[in-house]
Amino acid sequence: MKAAVWMGKKKMEVQEVADPRILNPRDCIVKVTATAICGSDVHLYNGLIPTLEKGDILGHEFMGEVVEVGPAVRKTKVGDRVVVPFTIACGACSHCTRTEWSCCDNTNPNAHIAEALMGYSPAGLFGFSHMSGGYAGGQAQYVRVPFADVGPIKIESDIPDEKVLFLSDIFPTGYMAAENCNIVPGRSVVAVWGCGPVGQFAIRSAFLLGAAKVIAIDSIPERRALAEKAGATAIPSGDDVMETLKAMTGGRGPDAAIDAVGMEAHGSTYDDVKQTLKMETDRPFALRQAMSCVRKAGTLSVPGVYAGFLDKVPFGAVMAKGVTIKTGQTHMQRYLHPLLALVEAKKIDPSCIITHRVPLSEAPEAYAMFNAKTDGCIKVVLDPSR
Ligand SMILES: NC(=O)c1ccc[n+]([C@@H]2O[C@H](COP(=O)([O-])OP(=O)(O)OC[C@H]3O[C@@H](n4cnc5c(N)ncnc54)[C@H](O)[C@@H]3O)[C@@H](O)[C@H]2O)c1
Ligand SMILES: [Zn+2]
Ligand SMILES: [Zn+2]
Repeated sequence: MKAAVWMGKKKMEVQEVADPRILNPRDCIVKVTATAICGSDVHLYNGLIPTLEKGDILGHEFMGEVVEVGPAVRKTKVGDRVVVPFTIACGACSHCTRTEWSCCDNTNPNAHIAEALMGYSPAGLFGFSHMSGGYAGGQAQYVRVPFADVGPIKIESDIPDEKVLFLSDIFPTGYMAAENCNIVPGRSVVAVWGCGPVGQFAIRSAFLLGAAKVIAIDSIPERRALAEKAGATAIPSGDDVMETLKAMTGGRGPDAAIDAVGMEAHGSTYDDVKQTLKMETDRPFALRQAMSCVRKAGTLSVPGVYAGFLDKVPFGAVMAKGVTIKTGQTHMQRYLHPLLALVEAKKIDPSCIITHRVPLSEAPEAYAMFNAKTDGCIKVVLDPSR
């Protein structure tokens, strides 16, 4: 089969690789019909996530048709049309039974690496380095899906792939980011750093949860325009964000701040230099700003991915202001059914963020474009049949 393979920093190739096989009785094999490139893939593409190896297949946003099931799979059937969440979960451990799916204890075969770095290992993730399990990703024609009865959600209607594909990651991620903001309907002002795909869904979800006002921050005009289309007030990123936010909130600051930027924020030469010299793992410019700008006793929600050890984080401000921080890889399985219902009820059309549809064979060019944010690119969907 064909797959998009990481061959080093900023180097993707589409290669002919071996088809996946059932390795565990609870696996299924999915023939991928649509897959996308995520902002998290950009961190991998840029070589910023440790333990990625040459030849690894990327991709954790995908859907398709089940073509084979292992002997212990009960619910999922051959022929089912499914969306697969990016967090791999067993469904039975103490975390899964608490619906803390992205913290599953049983799905990272390389848990010892993550434990050395973080104390405990989070769940395994598709296409996301060996520290996260070394699972082959879904930017491919076929993919092995472990715990086939726990993750995949069956799509019964003939709703197009593009409207449900983002249930695999960024819609639930934006939704959990907004849910983590303790929004008081009709009252809360939410500021969102980053108008990429995750920011776009965080903005839309904040409104679905009743936010009175959403302020969106990004340097890219077309991304700000898409945020405004959803009803947000968009402002450019930069050093004067604090002043602007104060002016927009009667001096109080936003009730909640969402960092939908993550470890590759723009705007700080200090971080650019230190990350390049490998003296710092992440560029937390947006995170610092969000910590400083959120109001006293407000909430900071961080869906943005961070890899390791962050410099000059104003934790004193967080402590003194009594800020609540919520973060994490999304507990995907919690959101699949409720958010599918919102899509089917036409409360939201997730396909509105797609700007590019390209064959899988053009994945290397698509990665370069999405990384550089050229050609108005906001979200790329890849077609594995071409
Ligand atoms: N928690 C999860 O489960 C989860 C899931 C998916 C993605 N993510 C993470 O969410 C983040 C965003 O993903 P995405 O797909 O939207 O990526 P993206 O790269 O397309 O979007 C990031 C946006 O942030 C903007 N930005 C950069 N610096 C900024 C600054 N200083 N101030 C304001 N905006 C700034 C960029 O211009 C860009 O539009 C990434 O870190 C990704 O890894 C997390
Ligand atoms: Zn992702
Ligand atoms: Zn589990």
